[in-house]
Amino acid sequence: PDPRVARTPPMGWNSWNSFGCGIDERLIRDTADHLVSSGMRDAGYRYLVVDDCWFDPRRDAGGELRADPVRFPSGMRALADYVHSRGLEFGLYEVPTDRTCAQRSGTYPGATGSRGHEEQDARTFADWGVDYLKYDWCSPEGTLDEQIDAFSTMRNALRATGRPIVFSINPNSDHAAKTGATHDWTGIAHQWRTTDDIKPVWHTDGADEMGVVDVVDVNRKAARRAGPGHWHDPDMLEVGVHDVDGFRGLNGSEARAHLSTWAVMAAPLLAGNNVTTMPAEVRDALTNPEVIAVDQDPAGIEGTPVRATGDQQVWAKPMADGSRVVALFNRGDRPATIRTTAGEAGLPRASACTVRDLWAHATTTTSGDIAAVVPAHGVALLRVSAR
Ligand code: GLA
Repeated sequence: PDPRVARTPPMGWNSWNSFGCGIDERLIRDTADHLVSSGMRDAGYRYLVVDDCWFDPRRDAGGELRADPVRFPSGMRALADYVHSRGLEFGLYEVPTDRTCAQRSGTYPGATGSRGHEEQDARTFADWGVDYLKYDWCSPEGTLDEQIDAFSTMRNALRATGRPIVFSINPNSDHAAKTGATHDWTGIAHQWRTTDDIKPVWHTDGADEMGVVDVVDVNRKAARRAGPGHWHDPDMLEVGVHDVDGFRGLNGSEARAHLSTWAVMAAPLLAGNNVTTMPAEVRDALTNPEVIAVDQDPAGIEGTPVRATGDQQVWAKPMADGSRVVALFNRGDRPATIRTTAGEAGLPRASACTVRDLWAHATTTTSGDIAAVVPAHGVALLRVSAR
């Protein structure tokens, strides 16, 4: 994939989690405006990605993709121009198979997948000004080899356009979730999904619907191989997403824990909420600069658990400046005191350390012991530096 982009985990917004197929050009333009006025863009959320259901159900006589003429009457080039005029980048969704996910499930008509049209579609995307392609296998059929082949074909087609385009793929998600043996897509895509679709809920017992902690448990099974230009994608953010598929949404503590764990895992941060009606506390959580700095650290190292006891986990992420970010992760239903040490987090045991609480924005010092009372379904996110 193009080495000029995705040096840190891509950040942006995607239409799917809140809107599904209920999208049109007015929503996308309003979203662009609000990404700017809310400060989201300047906090780093630069890619505005239009997910499934943007296209006309039929290609034209020359086999070209077209925007849906009713909901996107101005066309995709005009929409991309508008998004660019707001200082943002533009993204679209497609699939390497015959039918998109919504076309497979019957919620959207047609069969406009890119199979057999890869070069043509890549040229179309580049012509329109697309900066990010979400390319979703979305099919229970197909071997790993067929997927490697299909994703490599589009990577090559994008490369041939000469335009720097982030290539975000979703291999058959069952593959990773069920076996944990996530294929390493480094060299093919900039980011790859490791799980089934996330829902706006902390945890579910169902196999098909995944909450925040369920996604964390699957994503961490992948070896620690993320780094600049190649990222594990535990799916998009559910912060501020409400009342979708019967799920009411995350509370404030759960939302901060969701952001904290994604940042520690160096995950792409694609907001999924309605930013045109975003409450201040949701905006403040999404734009917390100290948390975003963890996610966007130039070393790009994926944090991992260093201790787990029942519902309590301690995660550590090595940072480029030598500090460690420690997440005290309380998955349980009651508040808990969680303890670790600077040594366990990977710092020299004897040194005096500063401990910066990245949500409270407060600094303390320690000679080694680290502890916090963490609310139910919560994370204390601490950046620990030797002095
Ligand atoms: C799949 C993907 C989702 C979304 C939908 C669109 O389920 O995992 O993120 O793109 O398809 O139909």
